[in-house]
Amino acid sequence: MFQYQAKTLYCENKPLADIAQSVGTPLYVYSKSELLRRARAYRAYPGALVCYAVKANGNPILLRLLGEEGLGADVTSGGELFLALQAAIPAKRIIYSGVGKRRDEIEMALAASIRALHVESMMELDVIAAVAQDMGRVAHVGVRVNPDIPAQTHPYDSTGRLDHKFGVPRESAVTLLHRAAEHPFLNPVGLAAHIGSQITSLAPYRRLVAFLVELANDMAAAGIDLEYVDVGGGLGIDYGQNGTPPIEEWIETVSQPVENAGYELVVEPGRSIVGPAGVLLTEVLYNKEQGAKYFVIVDAGMNDLIRPAMYDANHPLWPVRQRFNTDAPIVPLNVVGPICETGDFLARERLLPQPQVGDLLALMQAGAYGFAMSSNYNGRLRLPEVLVDGDQCELIRHRQNLEHLLDGVPISGE
Ligand code: LLP
Repeated sequence: MFQYQAKTLYCENKPLADIAQSVGTPLYVYSKSELLRRARAYRAYPGALVCYAVKANGNPILLRLLGEEGLGADVTSGGELFLALQAAIPAKRIIYSGVGKRRDEIEMALAASIRALHVESMMELDVIAAVAQDMGRVAHVGVRVNPDIPAQTHPYDSTGRLDHKFGVPRESAVTLLHRAAEHPFLNPVGLAAHIGSQITSLAPYRRLVAFLVELANDMAAAGIDLEYVDVGGGLGIDYGQNGTPPIEEWIETVSQPVENAGYELVVEPGRSIVGPAGVLLTEVLYNKEQGAKYFVIVDAGMNDLIRPAMYDANHPLWPVRQRFNTDAPIVPLNVVGPICETGDFLARERLLPQPQVGDLLALMQAGAYGFAMSSNYNGRLRLPEVLVDGDQCELIRHRQNLEHLLDGVPISGE
């Protein structure tokens, strides 16, 4: 929860400027109460298994908190499975989605006895069956169906059309489920879909849930009783331009048809849990006017938050101190980082008072796909992460140091 008190931006009861002062900039700051409020909104519907999408933000301390709230995890690699298990999320609450699971990752999932692997192709089902047989264990599988439903979002965030790589068409899902039912080392337990991310309307979900329930019922009629229906994640958050349905309304919408049909509901939210709980704090290094543009050069770059460059995302930009009686002209600001790319912008053409060198700026709604997508590009160090609880804060990830840039490199003479 981020709000101004006396023109100063706070995270809960802690001024962001104090955190920047002690930890340095740039950095990510998360609000524990906002994170938990959102997790609990999903958990308020008692029948659902809420598998948090680890890809949105895999910080182990946050994962542990979510696990303690009763959430499970949706993982997409052996690495994310490791993080979820390490955070003590029970294996029975972990599902594994993704089109390209390697053999060793499948082995890892089976060894951990997770709830299910979600299969995305016939070839993958065969590999899972072979691995399960070799290990002498039954693999619980869900089939990810591609419902061919448009998600009305950025093209890169749409995943449920037939020209996307995800899932299998309805007819193939039926074939895969039959094949799994017949195989001695496979047990078909669920039907899953994920149609995209940053979806701000309930309409595609109404279509999706009806589609999934109908297909699950058809399977039951054919003698294959599935335990759950998984509608994926994708609920959007408010980046300042569009409203979005509250979590409670979304879960109500998807849960009713699933519950009425007698299946367990599984959901895989990521962004809507952690996105609004985090900000990226950065300091103004220089002002520069060039070619009719006002550039504000800050110490965070596209390697720290790639969403503006990659999806043209608009993270609201809030000054950490609102100035009184400012004489600063209001101009269309272009907030850019130190990276050697023209695409290195964090905010474009925002009408705001021109900040001064040393001012702190907060890029809001940055808790999801912020740190998680960051890199060491341009030799930059990955950022620290701070968790605020009331007026207390905890460093939940240290800033990298220069030695990290040598990680894994066999340096001669050593
Ligand atoms: N389940 C599956 C199988 C997924 O692929 C995803 C996200 C989710 C759940 C969680 O979706 P969410 O609730 O977070 O929308 N980097 C992009 C978003 C990519 C989403 C990928 N899959 C961005 O920053 O907009």
